[in-house]
Amino acid sequence: MKTKLLSGSAEDISAAAELIKKGYVVGIPTETVYGLGADALNEQAVRAVFAAKCRPADNPLIVHIADFSQAIKYAKNIPDLAYTLAEKFCPGPLTMILQKRDIIPSVTSGGLDTVGIRVPSHDVMHKIIVESGCPIAAPSANLSGLPSPTCAEHVMDDMDNRIVAVLDGGSSEFGVESTVISFEGKDTVRILRPGAVTQEMLLEVCREVLIDPAVLKELEAEQVAASPGMKYIHYSPKANVIVVEGDTNAFKNFISHQNGKNVYSLIYDRESKGFEYNHMTYGNTSEEQAHLLFQRLRELDEAGAETVYVRPPSKEGVGLAVYNRLIRAAGFEVIRV
Ligand code: TXA
Ligand code: MG
Repeated sequence: MKTKLLSGSAEDISAAAELIKKGYVVGIPTETVYGLGADALNEQAVRAVFAAKCRPADNPLIVHIADFSQAIKYAKNIPDLAYTLAEKFCPGPLTMILQKRDIIPSVTSGGLDTVGIRVPSHDVMHKIIVESGCPIAAPSANLSGLPSPTCAEHVMDDMDNRIVAVLDGGSSEFGVESTVISFEGKDTVRILRPGAVTQEMLLEVCREVLIDPAVLKELEAEQVAASPGMKYIHYSPKANVIVVEGDTNAFKNFISHQNGKNVYSLIYDRESKGFEYNHMTYGNTSEEQAHLLFQRLRELDEAGAETVYVRPPSKEGVGLAVYNRLIRAAGFEVIRV
């Protein structure tokens, strides 16, 4: 199956919507990362999503809808807090875990009795949902384990010949996947996966915002992940990624002893002047780092990097999401210099 590249034209958006309606899997843009979209209610189409990205069957898919008012069709016992959060953060990069209704097939929810609901803000994605008339199940459009795609070309790299089409909706605005939260009691939420809707932002609405232990640490073998995705190897390029904590000078000194042909550093823009070793940069602010991290991980592979030492982001704001992805890319290998 040769994968067709669709544009963001009205005609191509309709074509993508039609394909999804017919049960095909299409690469689609969102404001976070690209997704592999299929009709969430069509078991066969959802199975094709799992097959295309070689995803373990127990890792549930997020269901994307056009407006949060439709959540009631797919979820039950929706807490009031969810509606308050939706008013503030939907459409946008927030996924809420809710009790699922039977209409959501068990393949979509990875066998769980909950479903993740998200209202994406990307204009093209919104149109595809409306025109297809389907709730759209969409995991990130990477092959399982690889960095998430933030442009159509990355989706093509992973999915060419595996799906019918990819729609090019430009570079993803945020560059990291949505914030995933679950509800605990009346006014408390738990962040299962950090994203661009930050703990600080959620605290404007919730009394308490817990951060699941799996966000910052590797789970012990016997621990059950609240979010199944957190237990799998993730965002991992071919290169061996190592996070190096310490200040600029300590890092430089460390690298001066590591240098070799296939050793790279991923550093901040402001540190690159006079940095004489192989390197790439990923911005200065957490927002820039979120936008660039996955792209750089792919580029480092293309450059033939075998070992990549990375200057970590701050853990504040969206930096927590970047840090969460980075330590997974590094297989939790963090050293301090
Ligand atoms: O920004 C995003 O969320 C992107 C775009 C395409 O919308 N999607 C995405 O999907 O990142 P995926 O499948 O790559 O990651 C979804 C994460 C996984 O870690 C999964 O385990 C978790 O959300 N998740 C989904 N449904 C869940 C549920 N019912 N309970 C707990 N975790 C859930
Ligand atoms: Mg993913």
